[in-house]
Amino acid sequence: MTDGKNKSSNALWGGRFSGSPSDIMESINASIDIDQRMAFEDIAGSIAHARMLATTGIISSDDAAAIERGLDQIHGEIERGEMNWSSALEDVHMNIEARLKEIIGEPAGRLHTARSRNDQVATDFRLWLRRACENVDQLITAYQSALVTQAEKHADTVMPGFTHLQTAQPVSLGHHLLCWAEAAERDRTRFHDARKRLNESPLGCAALAGTAFPIDRQMTSESLGFDRPMANSLDGVATRDFALETLAAATICATNLSRFAEEIVLWTSRRFDFAKLTDAWSTGSSIMPQKRNPDAAELVRAKPGRIAGALQTLVIVVKGLPLAYSKDLQEDKAPVFQAFDDLELALSAMAGMTADLTFNTDAMAEAAGEAYSDATDLADYVVRELGKPFRDAHHIAGTMVKLAESKHVPLSGLSLADMQSVEPDLTDAVYSVLSARASMESRTSYGGTAPIRVKEQVQLWRHRLLERQAI
Ligand code: ARG
Repeated sequence: MTDGKNKSSNALWGGRFSGSPSDIMESINASIDIDQRMAFEDIAGSIAHARMLATTGIISSDDAAAIERGLDQIHGEIERGEMNWSSALEDVHMNIEARLKEIIGEPAGRLHTARSRNDQVATDFRLWLRRACENVDQLITAYQSALVTQAEKHADTVMPGFTHLQTAQPVSLGHHLLCWAEAAERDRTRFHDARKRLNESPLGCAALAGTAFPIDRQMTSESLGFDRPMANSLDGVATRDFALETLAAATICATNLSRFAEEIVLWTSRRFDFAKLTDAWSTGSSIMPQKRNPDAAELVRAKPGRIAGALQTLVIVVKGLPLAYSKDLQEDKAPVFQAFDDLELALSAMAGMTADLTFNTDAMAEAAGEAYSDATDLADYVVRELGKPFRDAHHIAGTMVKLAESKHVPLSGLSLADMQSVEPDLTDAVYSVLSARASMESRTSYGGTAPIRVKEQVQLWRHRLLERQAI
């Protein structure tokens, strides 16, 4: 970042101005620290525009070739960290154009024919977000692959399923993990949908009204990989709903991640002792030598704060803005870049931790059998074998839980005589349903937790991921 240079009136609009901006004006106006992240998108947009200007005869092909050569050189300079970004030149667009002028001279001034920074920035931002959606797609897929691999290993592992964080019914650990793969799939397709809607080209909308030059918007749209040029020039420069949509998708995705992150925090705590993270995913304490903390999971748990904050920021920036472009819209990029940085990190951390987890299957099985988690199985048995209405069966099982509790035994610890004191028609066969594993294995309904169902789902997931070449 350089400052205080270029202190005469701005070279790009100097005709109208004789004085230079105050330092504070320059600071509030400059976005180069943020938007230089779109430099390659800006160069791609400019090359597409220059080629189109030459094809349509608006500029000469020699000028277009010089522009392209210059832009290629700038691309290299940026890659090598040699570009000297200047806040006096405000933003990425003007920095690159000014550098182009230094390199190729007069033809640089022809690049901005039939466009404005308003359509230019909207184009760059859409290109940037398109790539961000594609990156997120890959990261979600990697996270899902880690979940499916663990789910396959643990289709038969029994753990307590919770409601209200109270032991409810035994479930398969694989089933639990595939739940997060399902959520991640909805997240993935939300980005996919957002990408579809954002992939339209604003280039050629110019400042707000289109242009009198005979441009070919179809050509620039195609060469930048957009599906079509945007049909309304005011819309092209004014809307940021595409960015809002990606932030909404990011917020939901981060929220889903935070829930599994919280479970990792719980499961790795001594109280649960269901799982362990290796040193690669744990941190120590500076004072307590024995500590192993799941910091990464806690930070993923916190990420929705930042990402939903970014969504909130942009909603408030855009809210109430009249058509078409207003400088408020320059404030769109910082929250989006921050949110995607956070989300990408969170997804990578979740994929890493998911693969890293080892499960204490004994502790899980033991906990699965605690707290009368087989009481529903007893009630179901009474319905099935004795033909009672479920409400009566619920009452019978409830009475037996009370009895077992008073004797400090599990349901399977009650004698047949005890059971018959509550329901005389019960026989020995009842004991076959009174275990956590039997309970889990019995839930064979579609989408249920029985390992045979879980294994079917694992196979479906393997297919899906194979099609995406992710496994
Ligand atoms: N840096 C500006 C932005 O990000 C580019 C567009 C400026 N347009 C203008 N009319 N001043 O929004």
